Amino acid sequence: MSSENITSVAREGRKFNASRDFQAQANIGSIGAYRRLYSESVNNPEKFWAKQAAELLLWRKKWRKVLQWKAPFAKWFVGGRLNVAENCLDRHLGTARENKAAIIFEGEPGDQRTLTYKQLHHEVCKFANVLESLGLKQGDRVAIYMPMTPEAAIAMLACARIGAIHTVIFGGFSSEAIKDRVNDCQASLVITADGGWRRGKVVDLKANVDRALDGTPSVKHVVVLQRTNTHVTMKEGRDHWWHDVMATASHRHEAKAFDSETPLFILYTSGSTGKPKGVLHTSGGYLLGTTITSKYVFDLKESDTYWCTADVGWITGHSYVVYGILANGATTLMYEGAPNHPEPDRFWSIIDRHKVTIFYTAPTAIRAFMRWGDHYPAKHDMSSLRLLGSVGEPINPEAWKWYHKVIGGGRCPIVDTWWQTETGAIMISPLPAAIPQKPGSATLPFFGVVPKVFDDQGREVPKNSGGKLVITRPWPSMLRTLWGDDERFKRQYWSEYEGGIYFTGDGCRRDEDGYFWIVGRIDDVLNVSGHRIGTAEVESALVSHPTVAEAAAVGRPDELKGQALVVFVTLKNGVSATDELKEALRAHVAKEIGSLARPDNVRFAAALPKTRSGKIMRRLLKEIAAGGAVKGDTTTLEDFSVVASLQKEE
Ligand code: PRX
Repeated sequence: MSSENITSVAREGRKFNASRDFQAQANIGSIGAYRRLYSESVNNPEKFWAKQAAELLLWRKKWRKVLQWKAPFAKWFVGGRLNVAENCLDRHLGTARENKAAIIFEGEPGDQRTLTYKQLHHEVCKFANVLESLGLKQGDRVAIYMPMTPEAAIAMLACARIGAIHTVIFGGFSSEAIKDRVNDCQASLVITADGGWRRGKVVDLKANVDRALDGTPSVKHVVVLQRTNTHVTMKEGRDHWWHDVMATASHRHEAKAFDSETPLFILYTSGSTGKPKGVLHTSGGYLLGTTITSKYVFDLKESDTYWCTADVGWITGHSYVVYGILANGATTLMYEGAPNHPEPDRFWSIIDRHKVTIFYTAPTAIRAFMRWGDHYPAKHDMSSLRLLGSVGEPINPEAWKWYHKVIGGGRCPIVDTWWQTETGAIMISPLPAAIPQKPGSATLPFFGVVPKVFDDQGREVPKNSGGKLVITRPWPSMLRTLWGDDERFKRQYWSEYEGGIYFTGDGCRRDEDGYFWIVGRIDDVLNVSGHRIGTAEVESALVSHPTVAEAAAVGRPDELKGQALVVFVTLKNGVSATDELKEALRAHVAKEIGSLARPDNVRFAAALPKTRSGKIMRRLLKEIAAGGAVKGDTTTLEDFSVVASLQKEE
């Protein structure tokens, strides 16, 4: 596969339909059925959602009102009461699902464990008792910084069970990032592990937590899972081993019913300013959104072994490793480690050995698989697969076609799912048997979702022209606010247009069939390997280094990662621009944010291009970073010589 093919964004004109066999067994089997349900969902949304909520979830008390919408604040299933963990676990007990696998786990070193629904319920009840014995109550915040082991899911579900609010912090984030998040939400408990396995090495999770906790007075307790058997320091009175506290905990725990709007979790995500935003999701609406999309987008059946490769530290791991999948009573597979450990066929070997039926991953991973070569998937029998999914960034048609042919054997539909941390659940995606797929397009909206493409004045743009993607109606799994910051919530998402219109931050085009083609972020947020990184976060990390005067971070197209991170740095007077300093700055950003934000490229500059009003002209830097000539308008540029010298560099 040449790199030319990988980066090709040639439009693929063909449409792909599911086979007759797939259609015959599908939860929604025809475009007619999709259109009927979609019309119901937008013509009479409250009736539609009431019906779905009653069918798909277990309520202890019925709601009085389906939706209360005082834009931009929504409440769904007002007055209804439920327990999210009971919906994911208890309601499967006493049925045929009780003794089937809820979680199949494979650790990177090769260890394997299966937890049936009954066993998972048992563990979650025990851990819920542990949480309560540590003094945790409804509304308290719990930070989870763990490897991809079943205990991460157990911790999340136990929080949900007692009404505590979890905030999962991706294991690749640094101590500084842990500290900021814990302080922002004032977590009183941190759940972590001694370490986790990644490419044969131990990631020292507990040591990172220890460094963070020097500056987090809210934390009273730390629970530590023993995973890697590495030496850690346990602080007397504060730190407890998971196995010790679990040893004496009862497996009986009564799930209380909570109000539908009870906060379920906070998940921090990058925005266009320096400080990550704490996206808040609540219970009833979020669970309904993730459950119904799992059922129809993934065509999920209880007989499926479903594998989403996302870490639980991201929204995808919340919605489609844990909540949506378990609520449907299917089997979810969790894998701890890297896709190329010990060999680049690890994923295909997992699919083969566990007979995975549905596989959901990111385009950046697919492009890496393409590079590693077709002989790796060819070594394994992947005939168990029946459906593939993609998420995190636009998938280029070449990668789509490779995924379809080489991984799906030409027989599996692909669901290219567009959504965000903020939307909680999938918003635009094919329903695999009902909506013909066009490689590179997320196709059509899910039930109840009314997306539009607007110009700057809030008018819909004509077919095939670019604009801003907005969502014009509230939906059940929408974020409710940003933790502790309603004003930022309003400004960030609801101020671009008036009248309760949600602005996604994405650019988009709609084609002649009404299909949506997402082109990526239009704000100062980068998408590196399917993960959001705010340029302002990287810049503020850089200027916190003693040698840096000013910094600008931009994205450059990258054939594997989607975007690579390039930073332009001006140094303080007297500091010399050396290669060692470049390395030190890359390491500094990784330390401040996490290794996922480590710049690919550091470029020193005598000055940064600015407008006359002093704003850094990122557009020019992007063009320079991409290696092209500076085109476009430079009339507002203050000093032309700056651009000329930047282009000469490197
Ligand atoms: O730009 C879009 C891109 O990822 C952003 C959301 O990032 P995050 O909140 O981290 O959630 C990622 C997983 C849901 C979006 O604003 N994005 C996500 N999925 C797609 C996508 N862009 C194009 N096509 C997709 N399928």
